[in-house]
Amino acid sequence: MEIIRVKDYETMSKKASEIVADRVKTLENPILGLATGSTPEGMYRYLIEKYQAGEVSFKSAKSFNLDEYVGLSADDKNSYNYYMFDKFFNHVDILKENVNLPNGTATDLKQACLDYDQKIKDAGGIDIQVLGIGVNGHIGFNEPGTPFTMRTHVVDLTESTRQANSIYFSSLDEVPTQAFTMGIGTIMESKEIILLAYGESKANAIAQMLKGEVTEDLPASILKNHPNVTVIADEKALSQIGRAHV
Ligand code: PGA
Repeated sequence: MEIIRVKDYETMSKKASEIVADRVKTLENPILGLATGSTPEGMYRYLIEKYQAGEVSFKSAKSFNLDEYVGLSADDKNSYNYYMFDKFFNHVDILKENVNLPNGTATDLKQACLDYDQKIKDAGGIDIQVLGIGVNGHIGFNEPGTPFTMRTHVVDLTESTRQANSIYFSSLDEVPTQAFTMGIGTIMESKEIILLAYGESKANAIAQMLKGEVTEDLPASILKNHPNVTVIADEKALSQIGRAHV
């Protein structure tokens, strides 16, 4: 696991965009694993800049997102599908048919999960997966206690996750109670992973991930068993880690 200590959010975002852009340029048919939330927004901004400057094209890329709310349609403003088009896809040349997120309005949830894993497999697997980390060490919507072997599945959102995400909705009642998420088994099959973290609120999760044991109680800790992970974190997120560790 390589750790890149950066000054702040902007530097983290820029560094992440450079790594992703490099893989997109180098690979013939790059398969990107993408994330939503506040963490990767800046990275998308820098990737758009690189596209506009003619430095990178996403024409031959395919993408798979980590998660999606159950029950929200693609055009719902709170869906992750909407977020991805609004913050990234609408501004670059990725082909719409190459963009994949779990289908929030699928009726057969189990089948939708199997189909999503199959699609990733058929594409040849994810070349580079971008991850954020939850305050509790979750990755995707894989909350503490999720078996490491799980593939794409539906989770019941915990009250604390619904509370945290309710800032994007007009009321807590509107926050879906379930979500699709790539499982940790799915995430671990990615050839390369970059995990981004910024701010004090992530310091404890990052310290536990880097210094603690590999345990299902802290889902991100499994990343220590992956051969190609880069953590890009700012000073605040690394504030509980001594410089000797980094
Ligand atoms: P955030 O979420 O980027 O909004 O902090 C990260 C996560 O929960 O995985």
